[in-house]
Amino acid sequence: MIENPDSLFKLISHGIYVIGVSDGIHQNAFTAAWVMQVSFDPLLLALSINPQHYSYKLLQAGGICTVNVLGQHQQAIAEHFGRPGLRDKMAGFQWQISQTGAPILSESLAYFDCEVSHYADAGDHKIAICTVTDAAMLNQGLPLLYVQTGDMDGSSELYAK
Ligand SMILES: Cc1cc2nc3c(=O)[nH]c(=O)nc-3n(C[C@H](O)[C@H](O)[C@H](O)COP(=O)(O)O)c2cc1C
Repeated sequence: MIENPDSLFKLISHGIYVIGVSDGIHQNAFTAAWVMQVSFDPLLLALSINPQHYSYKLLQAGGICTVNVLGQHQQAIAEHFGRPGLRDKMAGFQWQISQTGAPILSESLAYFDCEVSHYADAGDHKIAICTVTDAAMLNQGLPLLYVQTGDMDGSSELYAK
């Protein structure tokens, strides 16, 4: 048995991102930690997403997303977009539209504009392998780290007992 898996697995370093999705009509955004670069050429990012999320439906339908990097001072934003079932979740924030058509969070440190290439099954999540078609720095700052978010994602309850 692995003791305290939630604290232990948080030692695998991740940043904190707001993933912007769109199906061409509806838009949404959610917080994600499980994001990584997986290729230089082509430029690929992999995102691990729970298929039960509303955002997954939009991602599948639209095939596009943005990965927006949160800074050290943006814990509250991570918390907000990490909550399910919010009405008008995107209201009160400033957004731009990326070249692919996905929402960019203007106050993030940087964004990556992506097209989904393909999916892989990964237990209770799906891995979206995404081609980066555009990216830019938006604001100065140091990135927020997953370990700094404590149990914000409720993961202490998600590991099999
Ligand atoms: C710090 C943090 C990290 C998270 N990382 C992920 C992740 O990597 N993948 C994922 O599918 N959900 C992750 N979540 C959970 C989603 O953000 C959360 O379930 C959200 O409500 C989904 O949005 P939606 O229901 O509007 O689609 C994370 C939440 C937090 C607070």
